[in-house]
Amino acid sequence: MSFDVAADAYNRFMGRYSGPLSSDFADWAGVRAGERALDVGCGPGALTRVLVDRLGVDEVSAVDPSPSFVAAVRQLFPTLDVQLAVAERLPYPDDLFDHALAQLVVHFMTDPVGGLQEMARVTRPGGTVSACVWDFAGERGPISVLWRAARDLDPGVLDESDLPGAREGDLERLCHAAGLARVESGELGVSVHHESFEQWWEPFTFGVGPAGSYVAGLDDEHRGALRDRCQQLLPATDFDLRAHAWTVRSRA
Ligand SMILES: C[S@@+](CC[C@H](N)C(=O)[O-])C[C@H]1O[C@@H](n2cnc3c(N)ncnc32)[C@H](O)[C@@H]1O
Repeated sequence: MSFDVAADAYNRFMGRYSGPLSSDFADWAGVRAGERALDVGCGPGALTRVLVDRLGVDEVSAVDPSPSFVAAVRQLFPTLDVQLAVAERLPYPDDLFDHALAQLVVHFMTDPVGGLQEMARVTRPGGTVSACVWDFAGERGPISVLWRAARDLDPGVLDESDLPGAREGDLERLCHAAGLARVESGELGVSVHHESFEQWWEPFTFGVGPAGSYVAGLDDEHRGALRDRCQQLLPATDFDLRAHAWTVRSRA
């Protein structure tokens, strides 16, 4: 899945949820001062920022296949090692990092097992490979309301619930298939306040990710119907949206 969108559009669409997730995910992975970490599929830098805060800019590297996201991270941290690359072909030697982390990325990898194997290759023996993916199959992702509304209107719609890692136990299975050891799984939650329905809805029209592409592909009538159905499913006043991600950590 290509994320050929501006960093600001991503941040308003998904960064509003991935930002609050980042610190808990770094805790889950066990990232501590003095270590070296790689942020795989860094996007515009939600997790990168947390890693830089904890480890210092010289101890963090980041990769992403989206040129606009790599440029955004470079602008945030001009001296950071950030490269245009995919998880499946990481531009690093073996055993370089204490941690390789992929926040909300495994489900977009062309070859998730190959990507996790590459993350293990660049992590030192005994180091940690960690990943998380929203619980789309359990309808607990931050954009699950959109997919529920889309299914209500078109039961055949292809949502994100069958993507790799988006179902309970899936990330564990992928880690085992990648040959990782001591695989542990858990879940993390975030709660994000929304001032209004409009504030929640507008970023879906920015064309970001599968949900944004879906909305962009609808004609005005169907987009209007989808928006109305979402509005029926969400509270009429301001609201807190709670979302959950499956998470896994394992040894390289
Ligand atoms: C949902 S975003 C997550 C971004 C960031 N980690 C965050 O938490 O906000 C998914 C990211 O995965 C990247 N991506 C897609 N395919 C990838 C691949 N094969 N390897 C690494 N990153 C990939 C996209 O460009 C995008 O930045």
